[in-house]
Amino acid sequence: MSQIQACLFDLDGVLVDTAVYHYKAWKRLANELGFDFTEIQNEELKGISRVKSLELILGWGGVSKTEMEKTELATRKNNWYVNMITQMQPSEILPGAKEFLIALKKAGYKTALGSASKNSGVILEKVGITYLFDAIIDGNSVTASKPNPEVFLKGAEAVGVTPEACVVFEDAIAGVEAGKAGGMKVVGIGLPEVLINADLVVSGLHEMTLENLIALN
Ligand code: BG6
Ligand code: MG
Repeated sequence: MSQIQACLFDLDGVLVDTAVYHYKAWKRLANELGFDFTEIQNEELKGISRVKSLELILGWGGVSKTEMEKTELATRKNNWYVNMITQMQPSEILPGAKEFLIALKKAGYKTALGSASKNSGVILEKVGITYLFDAIIDGNSVTASKPNPEVFLKGAEAVGVTPEACVVFEDAIAGVEAGKAGGMKVVGIGLPEVLINADLVVSGLHEMTLENLIALN
């Protein structure tokens, strides 16, 4: 084993593709409020918390709401989203994700989830990979959102590994920044021209092996 001792995973866009469900629910909300919401706008919400996402969407629609109304709107969107994710199946795990997690556990690495989502528990359970994590840190256990490193620092602490010995897997620019701000190595999932501060960029976890993890040292 290398000096890397733990891998910290973002959820949405790294382990599962929930962006489509977020998109459908936000679009329904925007349409009810009288404006449209595009897939391009949805891309900008990657890694962004529910409340911040709502504020961006309201801004794009030129709509202003009170704090109480915002809470109601976020709840309405989340209820639609939860209805969709509770029907998720193990087949919705992104290619290579489960295999890589299993290989990590077999090789003795610690694993933790580091997600902005408050729905991570139900998603992991529905796709059947909860058992592959030593710790789950998500939107319910952090106060600062990415690019603040809190979610990953708490993940490192929960598995008893120093940040320098952790590798973060992230598909969002804010998440890559969070990992770097935490003093960790970061593997970007996506395009190198977008995730420019990542130490390595792959198109998905199917491209990851223990060899290229160790080579990050
Ligand atoms: C992140 C997603 O993982 O979680 C964001 O990339 C989402 O799009 C955020 O807004 C919060 O998710 P949830 O499930 O708490 O609404
Ligand atoms: Mg993500």
